[in-house]
Amino acid sequence: MSESPVLESRDVTVSYGGRRPVHAVRGVSIRVERGETVALVGESGCGKSSLARAVVGMERIGSGTVLFDGEPVPPLGLRTRKNTGIQMVFQDPNTSLNPRRRVGDQIEDGIAAATARGLAGSSAGDWLERVGLPAASVSRYPHEFSGGQKQRIAIARAIAARPRLLVADEPISALDASTQSSVAALMKDLTRELGAGMLFISHDLAVVRRFADRTLVMLAGEIVESGETARLWAEPQHPYTRALLAAIPEPDGSGRIPASPSAEERRSWL
Ligand SMILES: Nc1ncnc2c1ncn2[C@@H]1O[C@H](COP(=O)(O)OP(=O)(O)O)[C@@H](O)[C@H]1O
Ligand SMILES: [Mg+2]
Repeated sequence: MSESPVLESRDVTVSYGGRRPVHAVRGVSIRVERGETVALVGESGCGKSSLARAVVGMERIGSGTVLFDGEPVPPLGLRTRKNTGIQMVFQDPNTSLNPRRRVGDQIEDGIAAATARGLAGSSAGDWLERVGLPAASVSRYPHEFSGGQKQRIAIARAIAARPRLLVADEPISALDASTQSSVAALMKDLTRELGAGMLFISHDLAVVRRFADRTLVMLAGEIVESGETARLWAEPQHPYTRALLAAIPEPDGSGRIPASPSAEERRSWL
């Protein structure tokens, strides 16, 4: 069996055209191993979603290489990608769920994708129970659920496809603070059980602390620091990582939120 990481990018760039092109991703190399949860954090606009779309083949890369299980990722449309072993979960569950179809049928689509790859699966009701919803919910429609419940359904659908790689772009950012950690922990448990790798994107360093094995810090299209999550918290090396950590409120609620970094500071970090 090959030992290649489930996902590897080498010097990937993504630019958007126009009169003033935006260089959203500037030579990024990342690696996600089987069973590993890797967090990608950085402020809004730093290029996280562009990188996520590039690694799953939804965005054209300007240069560099993306390997999935050691093989180049083919640029595919959303429809065909469901059978490649890569699944995505987005911030807004309404992006992944069809409002006009029963949730059970949508989870069945995931199960069918796994079956097509020769993988046996549980029933839609079982998957709903795995994400904390009653099996009888299979016959209901997405609008009958809260935002957090819909995101659980979107996760069940993605995981039912038995992916080898799950790319989750801000999957908990729209959820209540009280359900964020339970949904994140659930995603980690389910992907680890499958032996899949997960790239978990968040603009909030605090939320990834408890479950990410490694953390990548992105600033202005580049990864400025990466390492084991515990190491990164204990000994942040890059000034931007230190600024992100300093901006996290203390657990006792005393909060120490500094002013945003100045333009000069930011320039000095690049
Ligand atoms: N489709 C697009 N066309 C043009 N510019 C884009 C497009 N998508 C993103 N951008 C720009 O690329 C940069 C990175 O955006 P994005 O990858 O969405 O960052 P993040 O997910 O970290 O918020 C931003 O300057 C954004 O405005
Ligand atoms: Mg984004």
